[in-house]
Amino acid sequence: MTPRRLRAALLSLGLALAACQRVPVAAVAARDAAVEPDRPFARLYAADAGDGRFSEPEWRRIRRMSPVPPLEPDPTNRVADDPAAARLGYALFHDAALSVDGTVACAGCHDPARAFSDGLPRAVARGRVGRRNTPSLWWAATHRWQLWDGAADSLWAQPVMAWEHPSEHGLSRDELARRLTARHGEALRAVFGADPGDDALAVIARAGKCLAAYLRTITPRSPSAFDRWVAGAPAAMEPAAVRGLQLFLRVGCVRCHSGALFSDGDFHAVRFPDDPAVGPDHGRLEGSERARAHPLRAQSAYSDEREAMFPPNPTSPEDDGRFLTPSLRGVALTAPYGHAGTLPTLESVIDLYAAGGTPAGDPRAQGVRDVFAEPFVLRGSDRADLVAFLRALTPGTQP
Ligand code: HEC
Ligand code: HEC
Repeated sequence: MTPRRLRAALLSLGLALAACQRVPVAAVAARDAAVEPDRPFARLYAADAGDGRFSEPEWRRIRRMSPVPPLEPDPTNRVADDPAAARLGYALFHDAALSVDGTVACAGCHDPARAFSDGLPRAVARGRVGRRNTPSLWWAATHRWQLWDGAADSLWAQPVMAWEHPSEHGLSRDELARRLTARHGEALRAVFGADPGDDALAVIARAGKCLAAYLRTITPRSPSAFDRWVAGAPAAMEPAAVRGLQLFLRVGCVRCHSGALFSDGDFHAVRFPDDPAVGPDHGRLEGSERARAHPLRAQSAYSDEREAMFPPNPTSPEDDGRFLTPSLRGVALTAPYGHAGTLPTLESVIDLYAAGGTPAGDPRAQGVRDVFAEPFVLRGSDRADLVAFLRALTPGTQP
């Protein structure tokens, strides 16, 4: 059953039950309309009793949003939780000598002070501007897919793309393997044993697995205001943020930004604008094919458990303009927003959602808007409340 049908069915069931209890149907409909006249998703929740601010079903959802559970093991990477591998990963992350002119390190774009993003619309290295916005790496270790379009299906496959990318580190595969062995050979042997011979990809996969081990250690330790609020500290979130959480649930943000990471791990077209300087970005339409062809994909010979993951689905035309739902934890630190960094502020993101995304037919956005991203009306303090809630998801933004 589609969510729309499910909602219709639940609504009519609710109305039927109300009729049995001799509550006039018109009264129920009037109450729902009074609660949220232009927020159809809210009606799913409206019927159940709660604490006045949130219904019982809303509370059940909220409790799934915090705390963040511990990382799951990664069977494709046997050194995923090896501290020596993570230490080497840290060194690799900061090593600018692993770039064509000695100026580019991962940390140059993924700045720890900005939740490992860079504050730029699109990434810049060696004077070149790339195609996409640099995402936070805080929760990258929890993702099934890496990159805005999911073009890598493991955390250890992703670094080779940055190392080889002409607008990032810009190294050829052989040169990269040579430098890795020359600069980090001893540490690599200490973690993995003897060198893998002249298979460049095997050397790169080992280095990628160490980077992945490091990235597994960088998730923030301190809880956000929202986490403290869910754990039972009512003063941790200001009233505006609590109202923002209500809206987040009722206008349907939570349909995609769900669970403790505020991401369903899936791809959706919400029609954020591309950057005209880059041209159309078709997102998942291309990412799925790239992931299937990636030499270090989770099912390649370089994986430590090839059967652990299903391969990506073949591309379908509906994938056009779909991007991975990003986590919203840390979002206060990662402006500007969207795959092309075209939305400067959280306010501008919310205005775009309220409008239902870039209009159909506008060439600056690809694909057909997802049915979950319905437009909605912003009233009074709604925009500020939603922003207050989004900010409460970043540690250190509220008292
Ligand atoms: C020039 C800036 C730049 C450099 C240098 C760089 N990155 Fe990135 N990183 C990006 C951008 C931009 C993206 C998103 C690219 C895309 O989706 O196509 C990204 C995406 C990622 C992701 C995926 C995160 C997610 O949530 O999908 C990981 C992991 C990552 N980078 C790790 C690294 C590592 C490790 C290095 C060093 C080997 C590195 N990056 C070097 C800019 C950079
Ligand atoms: C249909 C699924 C879906 C719904 C509903 C949805 N989002 Fe998103 N969200 C996404 C996707 C996909 C992206 C990435 C889009 C892109 O870059 O093109 C995104 C991006 C964002 C970003 C930018 C994050 C970043 O790091 O750049 C913010 C903030 C955000 N959403 C907040 C919200 C809010 C607030 C709502 C409710 C008003 C909402 N989202 C509703 C799927 C969704």
